[in-house]
Amino acid sequence: ITLPDAYDLADYERLARERISEPYWAYLASLAGNGLTQRMTREAYDRLRLAPRVLADLSGASTRIRLFGASFEHPILLAPVAYHRLFHPDGEIAVAQGAGATDTPLVVSTHASTGLEDIRAASQGPQWFQLYIQPDWDFTAALVRRAEAAGYGALVVTVDAPVSLRVQARRAGFQLPPEIDAVNLRGLVAAEPQPSTLGGSPLFGGSLPPAPVWADVARLRALTRLPILLKGVMAPEDASRALAEGLDGLIVSNHGGRVLDSVPPTIEVLPAVLAAVDRRIPVLVDGGIRHGTDILKAMALGASAVLIGRPYIHGLAMAGALGVAHVVHLLRAELEVAMALTGCTGFDTAPSALAQA
Ligand code: FNR
Repeated sequence: ITLPDAYDLADYERLARERISEPYWAYLASLAGNGLTQRMTREAYDRLRLAPRVLADLSGASTRIRLFGASFEHPILLAPVAYHRLFHPDGEIAVAQGAGATDTPLVVSTHASTGLEDIRAASQGPQWFQLYIQPDWDFTAALVRRAEAAGYGALVVTVDAPVSLRVQARRAGFQLPPEIDAVNLRGLVAAEPQPSTLGGSPLFGGSLPPAPVWADVARLRALTRLPILLKGVMAPEDASRALAEGLDGLIVSNHGGRVLDSVPPTIEVLPAVLAAVDRRIPVLVDGGIRHGTDILKAMALGASAVLIGRPYIHGLAMAGALGVAHVVHLLRAELEVAMALTGCTGFDTAPSALAQA
C-alpha cells in the first residue's frame, strides 16, 4: 500500500469521491435540507482571523492535551461514524489501527459494523464508545457493560438525532448490503415503524420511537462510572442542564449538518455553551473541521479538543489504516504550522491566536 497523492483533506475528499460508489457517497456526504448549515459552517470558520506572531520562543511547544485524566498527543479525535465497512473491507479495525498509530482517540459508533470488543482489541490506542440510548433499557445497560468490560475510556451519548429524513441517501437508493449491519445491536427488537398515510402525521402519529429524555441520562449517570459526554448539545440551557446532571463533558455538534438544516455552525455557539458551563467541564466541538487553522480557531475559542467525521472516512476509503493515519498526520502538521506562526506553544490554556475582528 502506498500513500495516495494527497496533501490536504480536500485532496482526500476529491480522491475518495472518485472511489466510493454513488449511493455510499450519498450516504456519507448527505446533508439535511439545502445544506445551509454546512455552508454557514465554512463561512464561520473563514470569517475568524488568526493573529501572526514572530520571533516567539517555540522550544518545548506541544500539541498535547489532557482529557479525563488521560494525556493525548494532539487535540484531534475521530467522531463516531456508522458502518465503516461500507468504505473499506477492514472497516472499524483499520480505523482503530490508524487511530492507534497516531494516538488519536477513536469514538466507536453504536452503529459500528464490527463488534465493539473486536475494535477495542485491534489497537492499544484510546477509544471511547458512542451510545445511542435504546428504548429497551436493559439492552442499553448491557451495551454499557460491554463497553466497560472491553476497556472503553468514556461514553459519548449522542442526543441530536432521534429522527431524521435522510433524503439524499434515500434518493440515491442507499441501502446497507446484506453483509453489513449494526452488529452491536443484534438481538434488539426494533420498534415496528407504523406506516404513515399521506393524510396522516408522518412522525407524531405513533411512528416516533420513544426517544430518550433527560431522565434516561440521569439513569445512565447512575449506571456507570465512566466519564459521560453529551454529543449534540447546541443550546446553553441544555449545556447547564448537562452539568447539573453530573455529566463530565460536552460535544457541541449538529451532527455535521446531517439532521436539521438551518441550525447555526457549532463554532458560533461554542462560546455561549462554554459560558453556560462556566468552563467547568471540557467542551469539544465538531462539524466541518478541514484545516489545522480551523482547529486552532476552535481551541482559541476555548474548545478542549475537536472531532473529525467525514475526512477520516475519506482516508479509510483510499488507504485503510494508513489513510486514516495520514489524514490525522496532515491535519496535525497544519495545526503545528498554525501554532508556530501565531506563537502558540500549547493548549494548557486557550491560545490567544485570534485577531481582533
Ligand atoms: C455520522 N455521525 C454520527 N454521530 C454519532 O454520534 N453516531 C453515529 O453513528 C454517526 N454516524 C455518522 C455517519 C456518517 C456517514 C457521518 C458523516 C456522520 C456524526 C459525526 O459523529 C460527526 O458529528 C460529524 O460527522 C462531524 O462533522 P464532519 O467532520 O463530518 O464535518
